[in-house]
Amino acid sequence: MKKINLAVVGATGMVGRTFLKVLEEKDLPIDNFYVMASKRSAGSTVTFKGKEYIVEELTENSFDKPIDIALFSAGGSTSEKFAPIAAAKGCVVVDNSSQWRMDPEVPLVVPEVNPEDIKWNKGIIANPNCSTIQAVVALKPLDDKYSIKRIVYSTYQAVSGAGVAGWNDLENGLKGEEPKKFPYSIASNCLPHIDVFMDNGYTKEEMKMIWETRKILHKDDLKITATAVRVPVFNSHSESVNVEFDNPVEVEDVKTTLKEAPGIILEDDPSSNVYPLALNATGHDDVYVGRVRRDESVDNGINFWVVADNIRKGAATNAVQIAELLIKEMQ
Ligand code: A2P
Repeated sequence: MKKINLAVVGATGMVGRTFLKVLEEKDLPIDNFYVMASKRSAGSTVTFKGKEYIVEELTENSFDKPIDIALFSAGGSTSEKFAPIAAAKGCVVVDNSSQWRMDPEVPLVVPEVNPEDIKWNKGIIANPNCSTIQAVVALKPLDDKYSIKRIVYSTYQAVSGAGVAGWNDLENGLKGEEPKKFPYSIASNCLPHIDVFMDNGYTKEEMKMIWETRKILHKDDLKITATAVRVPVFNSHSESVNVEFDNPVEVEDVKTTLKEAPGIILEDDPSSNVYPLALNATGHDDVYVGRVRRDESVDNGINFWVVADNIRKGAATNAVQIAELLIKEMQ
């Protein structure tokens, strides 16, 4: 198997560190490995596969050396500036920021859902929003079978989605300290406010779920609404998903379909209190689905509860899975 040169940009951040962990676990065929971050942490070291690597400062010359794939998680403005520089030098960037996701020239990929879209990349592939990834993994097999007509998302999102600063706000808030990242205390609280508010009254996080679901499922006019809420949970996002279909559905058939779909673990036995939980999903790459039940207020509707590790499947794992697909193509 041909070995590739791979760089991690934002290697010192919460997602960046998880890139390293997932890359180690999946044992990709890597020849030269580079870690990059801002000037602040340049010169520090990270350990990868038992070897120490010095963190390089990301500059306009960082991609002058041959790099096949770069995994970026260093914020939108860093991606805006540096992803095109890397792509122009022949590198394929898998970008975790929201910067390129809705660009019509950039594929937005969840490997279980639309792996074929990586083929038309022009040097940048976007990794979707964490809340969107876990939802579409569960929705895709149902769309294939029953054709989705409308979706209502309600999210319960962990503080790790707001990076180290979000995590610290919950940890310190539990000790009675004032918040630094969020506008209010996240300890003992729920904040119906993730990312900025937009003119239509939705938050950008809610609109990302709407826009990105349509793009990934290739259904530009799909009716979707969303409410995104930050909850005092350290890691793993939970979501209530209400879906209406064009065709009739049976709950048992939905469960079988989900059980057989890639990347999903069905945890659904209410009589034994079995349903997906954030604490159980943390540290795993699968998407956990349960509480599947009929929406009795409409003809062809169901509700379900979906949980996944937002830093792994919602970010790092999804990006590494895209890299795996790229490596297969490069052979
Ligand atoms: P650094 O550690 O040097 O600040 P998080 O989202 O967990 O806060 O992580 C953000 C990541 O993005 C960190 O690795 C951070 O590096 C990196 N980063 C932030 N700004 C830049 C930049 N201008 N150039 C390169 N890396 C950046």
